[in-house]
Amino acid sequence: MHKIEVEKANEFIKKRSQEVVTTYRNRYHLMAPIGWINDPNGFVYFQGEYHLFFQYYPYDSIWGPMHWGHAKSKDLVHWEQLPVALAPGEEYDKNGCFSGSAIEKDGKLYLVYTGHVEEGDYRREVQCLAVSEDGIHFEKYANNPIIAEEHIAGIGNIAEFRDPKVFKREDTYYTIVASQTSDKRGQMFLFESNDLFNWTFKSIVAEGQKDQGVMWECPDLFHLDGKDVLIFSPIEMKVDDYSYWNTSSTVAFIGEMDWETGKLSVENTHEIDYGLDFYAPQTCEGPNGERIMVAWMQMWHRTMPTNELNHLWSGSMTLPRELHVKENRLVQTPPKGIYQTFEETLSMDEQTIPSGQIVFADSVLNQQYVQFAIEVAEQQKITFSYAQGNEALRLEYDATTALLSFSRTGVGYDLKGIEKTQLTKREVRVPLVDNQLKIEIFRDTSSIEIFTTTGETMTFTFYEQEQGKDMQLKTNDGPLVIRSFASGKISE
Ligand code: FRU
Repeated sequence: MHKIEVEKANEFIKKRSQEVVTTYRNRYHLMAPIGWINDPNGFVYFQGEYHLFFQYYPYDSIWGPMHWGHAKSKDLVHWEQLPVALAPGEEYDKNGCFSGSAIEKDGKLYLVYTGHVEEGDYRREVQCLAVSEDGIHFEKYANNPIIAEEHIAGIGNIAEFRDPKVFKREDTYYTIVASQTSDKRGQMFLFESNDLFNWTFKSIVAEGQKDQGVMWECPDLFHLDGKDVLIFSPIEMKVDDYSYWNTSSTVAFIGEMDWETGKLSVENTHEIDYGLDFYAPQTCEGPNGERIMVAWMQMWHRTMPTNELNHLWSGSMTLPRELHVKENRLVQTPPKGIYQTFEETLSMDEQTIPSGQIVFADSVLNQQYVQFAIEVAEQQKITFSYAQGNEALRLEYDATTALLSFSRTGVGYDLKGIEKTQLTKREVRVPLVDNQLKIEIFRDTSSIEIFTTTGETMTFTFYEQEQGKDMQLKTNDGPLVIRSFASGKISE
């Protein structure tokens, strides 16, 4: 059964992918050849390469019964598509192979995923195993599920129990799984095993408060820079200042795990990305212990222009980002390999522009990197307009409030969401470093990812109807003091 469904999907992809309309397709981000994608799954370094799987419905550009798509990469920038790894169809996963993770054991690659069944009001989510000898073809384990009702009797709801992230610590395997309390708060369960096949309940790692969401999804738990970090994606987390404006958010809990009790004591909590299109991040450990994170670069419950325009695809992954913990916050930097693909076409040395503004005409590229450092005086506002035509994407910094904002207002197709007011802009507080605002920007056709030197990120998609060609840097007051500026192409 499984083989037939996987083959059917692979045949479809082979036959139909040429029909995809490429106008808005990214080039240096991982995407599926055709169809819908959401969460990254099974992110793992296996036999010298990064493997990244993803929630996948090849047959339409909207969500449907979930398969696992699959790709691999040596440098986290260039991706090679591999055949579909999982398709739904068994009695325990007949309505979807939901999100999960991967781990290597004795040279084999194991996937731990959620089997989703939904019939009318009945919903069951159980954790399942699949294994591969070659890292490409997967067999589902004959005794699936491996974690089910009996493991969470009396403490969890089998209808909301998903997204297992498996890892090894000392000689024990652990899996952290998202769940919901009976009064609709998020909670994370931890299970342990010696062999990946037999699991016992260990603990509730963390439990949410009322304002921290009605359900938590996609947990990941790892040790980094002396801290324990739990990341996850809460649904309907309450807006707090400039954080959690999306209906589906992402959050990091940073603190210390007690491995005796299996509980995380949380020292700090913050949103992971301050954009509109970043969800369900998952990490993997690289060959030198580096912690890399990738997320789905779209958002639930918003319209998707590529679906409405019948372009036969929807969704992309973010750039994989390297993580560190500094002062109890997660900080993100771009993947090192991306700089090797950068060909500089425009650069400026230190200079002061008395008029307070400079236009780089005709300088916008579909695959582009822009980097600048501006000296910001007290009370100055700096505006970087990108892809400027009648409208522009706008990155703005206000020294008075220390707020950095990014706006796609008026640019291209609307992405209408279920949020009460349509969101087209977000803000984040960013301190200056040496009185300077230092920014790195990665644009790929319909996406833009902004990194600050302090490690904050803002991730947005945008679907232009007219291509904006210019860039502009401007200040409201006094001269513009540029310390450095560079821009150029990101080649494939
Ligand atoms: C998160 C999520 C997961 C689930 C998957 C289904 O985006 O809702 O909780 O496993 O997507 O595609």
